[in-house]
Amino acid sequence: MCGIVGYVGQQQAQGVVIEGLRRLEYRGYDSAGIALVHASEGRGALAADKRAGKLANLEKALDERPLPESSTGIGHTRWATHGAPNDRNAHPHLGAAGRLALVHNGIIENFAELRAELEQAGHELRSETDTEVAAHLLERELRDGADLTTAMQRICRRLAGAFTLVAVDAEDPDRVVAARRSSPLVVGLGEGENFLGSDVAAFIEHTREALELGQDQVVTLSRDDVSVTTFDGAPAEGTPYHVDWDLSAAEKDGHDWFMRKEIFEQPRAVADSLIGRRTPTGELHLDEVRLSDGDLRDIDKVIIIACGTSFYAGMVAKYAIEHWCRIPCEVELASEFRYRDPILTRETLVVAISQSGETADTLQAIRHARTQRSKVLAICNTNGSTIPRESDAVIYTHAGPEIGVASTKGFLTQLVACYLLALYLAQVKGTRYGDEITQVMNQLEQMPAHIQTVLEGAADVYALAQDYVDARSVLFLGRHAGFPVALEGALKLKELAYIHAEGFAAGELKHGPIALIEEGLPVWCVVPPRGRDQLHDKMVSGIQEVRARGARTICLAEAGDESITPYADALIRLPKVPVLLQPLVAAVPLQLFACELATLMGHDVDQPRNLAKSVTVE
Ligand code: G6P
Repeated sequence: MCGIVGYVGQQQAQGVVIEGLRRLEYRGYDSAGIALVHASEGRGALAADKRAGKLANLEKALDERPLPESSTGIGHTRWATHGAPNDRNAHPHLGAAGRLALVHNGIIENFAELRAELEQAGHELRSETDTEVAAHLLERELRDGADLTTAMQRICRRLAGAFTLVAVDAEDPDRVVAARRSSPLVVGLGEGENFLGSDVAAFIEHTREALELGQDQVVTLSRDDVSVTTFDGAPAEGTPYHVDWDLSAAEKDGHDWFMRKEIFEQPRAVADSLIGRRTPTGELHLDEVRLSDGDLRDIDKVIIIACGTSFYAGMVAKYAIEHWCRIPCEVELASEFRYRDPILTRETLVVAISQSGETADTLQAIRHARTQRSKVLAICNTNGSTIPRESDAVIYTHAGPEIGVASTKGFLTQLVACYLLALYLAQVKGTRYGDEITQVMNQLEQMPAHIQTVLEGAADVYALAQDYVDARSVLFLGRHAGFPVALEGALKLKELAYIHAEGFAAGELKHGPIALIEEGLPVWCVVPPRGRDQLHDKMVSGIQEVRARGARTICLAEAGDESITPYADALIRLPKVPVLLQPLVAAVPLQLFACELATLMGHDVDQPRNLAKSVTVE
């Protein structure tokens, strides 16, 4: 949610900043802007431009009217919170005298009182944003003699909320200063140049050495130096780390969309997320779980908190945890969690699932859980992000950077991490025998090949998308672990195709949703594998019921399941896998369908309207 870039070095800052914004545009695309510090008549001066809409609008403006040469700059791509997405509210915002430029991600919660204070002192604010207030406050500190670092420390002590701020001062042209509280910011360490970004994608082209910042810290960048302090001005240190993926991971690699590329990367992402999880003697071993086996044995309840697609991964995890570990597991939307006074004890394990590791709702939920002394374990794809840092333990997924706003490989690798966690708990608690765990691990290790098989049938799914390009509504039915898959299929379609889509537990159909069925309505049906229970047969009955009422059924069923054939208007085959693992294959055709349908409808698949990849405001 909002992408931020900062640069000081020897290259032309305009190019570096715009390129960084292009790689961060998935975070928000309501407007884009840039500010550079350049020399004018022997003095430093600011040059800035900002445009509503996507980055392309700003680039076009800069092509027509390039900014002066400069080697210090900041940039911003916005997901609007305060104020409409127009040119005026776009970042950067300048101070009253135009000496200081500031970009911001997050929300300054006490901005109204600060704005009133500034207006009383005669400041004229030009935008409706909370950011401009911080710009005026900063510049006032500069005017009163503070340097940019001190000014930043001072104003941060007055700001409430979650924010990342990055600023430049025309009178101090070789310095960029930033601050963060509960909002993402990383430093890229170069040779004779340094970078700032909301995530490492902003500078991965230039360096893979990064510095992670802590909470409530201010960082000052010059060409040759990076120094960190607390908001109180005390010296502090960031944590250096090496980024283990390179630029190619942030490129489309011949695909039309990042999302499509990421769908096709799923066999590798799943395989990578399984690597190194077994000891030579076959035991499951999760080295990132920093909780002792004793702590885990005492766990008597699991609560999973997450948002969006991650929430659906959590729903699948509930089936696995309760089945394998025999402990109760609740799944809760992070945005609802702390408002319902949840019952948390020291024996509760709270599992936060977040691809980005920055989702504000999830972060606030884990903070609440920790105040209640519960243990928090994060499942996360982003090294060094806030949620794993504030958790007691973490299982990292190894999906690589996910850039398409709608999550795909993030989801599948979260499922893998959930299965691993459930199996690990079962091992520690002794609720499953070692050979049962080994059997599931073996099945999991076959999943990349199964996912690959599903991807090889992509053309059939694309043909279906052609058939349904005029659909105004699509339903998704599933049972058991297929129910969250149905919800995820519907979410993908809402996010990308902007059409009405809903997922239902198939058994619930007759209690209301069946009234929605009308002639020609497409209904995706996730058919459970045939097994000892009656799940499969009950699903087949549900499919007959909707078909009898005129629905066009698109069935996802395992290879060899002929019972479904008479009732399927279209049939997509899935490899034979156990019911608990079926989401890993069943989600894939639904991702392909949404991606293709949205493409045919002419939508921007990677940057759907109104959405942002990581939602850092509550
Ligand atoms: C946003 C994204 C979704 C994502 C959700 C949770 O809404 O658009 O794709 O599932 O956030 O994100 P997280 O990073 O916490 O998994």
